[in-house]
Amino acid sequence: MANRKPVVAANWKMNGDRQLVKQFIEIVHAAEVTNNVDVVLSPPATLLDYANTTRLGQKADIILSAQSISELSSGAYTGELSANMFKDVGCTWVYCGHSERRHIFGESSEVVAKKFIQAQKNGLTPVLCVGETEEERKKGKAFSRLTSQIEAVINLAGKDCFQNAIFAYEPVWAIGTGKAATPEIAQEAHKFIRGMIAAMRQESAESIRILYGGSVTPDNAVELFSQPDIDGGLIGGAALRPLDFVKICQAAT
Ligand code: PGA
Repeated sequence: MANRKPVVAANWKMNGDRQLVKQFIEIVHAAEVTNNVDVVLSPPATLLDYANTTRLGQKADIILSAQSISELSSGAYTGELSANMFKDVGCTWVYCGHSERRHIFGESSEVVAKKFIQAQKNGLTPVLCVGETEEERKKGKAFSRLTSQIEAVINLAGKDCFQNAIFAYEPVWAIGTGKAATPEIAQEAHKFIRGMIAAMRQESAESIRILYGGSVTPDNAVELFSQPDIDGGLIGGAALRPLDFVKICQAAT
């Protein structure tokens, strides 16, 4: 993991309530994992304000992330939420292009790139999520898929855009399936991503943190996180169980 501080991020997706927010923050804070790991919580948008107040009240060093933002700044866009609105409730990070946004809600790589730009323009750190489907992997197209997803962002945001960003490699076939990538497959993809960034800017490649996501549990986290190019995880299902989440954070140290 080189000198990069690990990140373990909880992506609650469309789950959770205020009670779970409180419990999660209390348990993570008591476990004192945030000295060595950047711990991120991304509950549904409706819980963020409460999460922010609870976190500040307990002096819990937890980063808040939005699960997605609008690619637009403000205006007559019913149902949309802007980067600034998330900043207003204490968010400093945002996921861009999570596979559920791409595959269920049809977000193109170009829309993802616009969201990435909105995030950076408004001072949020984007976590760019990329990953191939099972079919693409079977056809030997995993790396060309990653390349096209990353190039779409470079084309709109420019070659220096990864100086303040995080990556998440999340193979679609591993998300929510209980079938995590093997450490070897994940490491190979992470190395590929870091290599792509190095080709543009060596310093960014060395400092950027690349998280693995897809069926991470306390049982497989140590092996995954011990790979040289894996700097932590983006956790879905297991992040709804605070005690499991803490174990995953401990695996990253
Ligand atoms: P999972 O989800 O851990 O439930 O597989 C990961 C993610 O979607 O970020």
